[in-house]
Amino acid sequence: MTGKISPSLMCAPLHELVFYLQIFEEAGIEYLHMDVMDGHFVSNFMLGTDFIKQVRKLTSIPLDIHLMIDKPDNKLDWFDIQPGEYVSFHIEATDHAQRLCSSIREKGAKPMLALNPSTPLCVLEDLLPDLDAVLIMTVNPGFAGQKLVPQMIDKIARLKKMLDSSGYNHVEIEVDGNTSLENAKKMRNAGADIFVAGTAGLFIAERDIRQCITEFRCCIN
Ligand code: DX5
Ligand code: ZN
Repeated sequence: MTGKISPSLMCAPLHELVFYLQIFEEAGIEYLHMDVMDGHFVSNFMLGTDFIKQVRKLTSIPLDIHLMIDKPDNKLDWFDIQPGEYVSFHIEATDHAQRLCSSIREKGAKPMLALNPSTPLCVLEDLLPDLDAVLIMTVNPGFAGQKLVPQMIDKIARLKKMLDSSGYNHVEIEVDGNTSLENAKKMRNAGADIFVAGTAGLFIAERDIRQCITEFRCCIN
């Protein structure tokens, strides 16, 4: 199965958003990555609840909502989460990760646990039955345009091995951050399934977005 692309809408030029969404639909893009930041869990503010609701009115592509917010447990309703969407949260942001996964599933959505570069894989051990995917942050969360934390390639490979050897190979691996064509290839070879595509590999100044999508697809086949 080919890798899936989840363009990071925080990187999309707002004045061309409708144009980009049409291109993404024509290209069979699988998800739209919505980075939500509260200025507390990460030191940046990004993509609020109204923006997410507006995007849903513009496209049928399922959302991949990345909650970089504190205490997401009692904020899910703010986002009007829809069946089939991915919702990721950080283990450090909640005291009750298993219950939060259940709350996401009760909405028909798919729970994804986001791991910062320094968060070890062992936090997953007792949560795998409750997850549909794991998000490996390949940069530190909060800003576009950062550089890959090199040891994340090995972390992806170790996660893939962990999932395959424990009967959870249906759990997808998403990678987020500095997914340049060169890095995306390495991440794919290590076992990544879903690629958050931002300024490094998709929204590149002076480049045709259709061409960038084609080149990105080739790297993650
Ligand atoms: C980090 C953000 C970025 C963004 C992708 O919190 O999530 O990773 O989506 O941006 P680039 O491709 O510039 O790293
Ligand atoms: Zn993200």
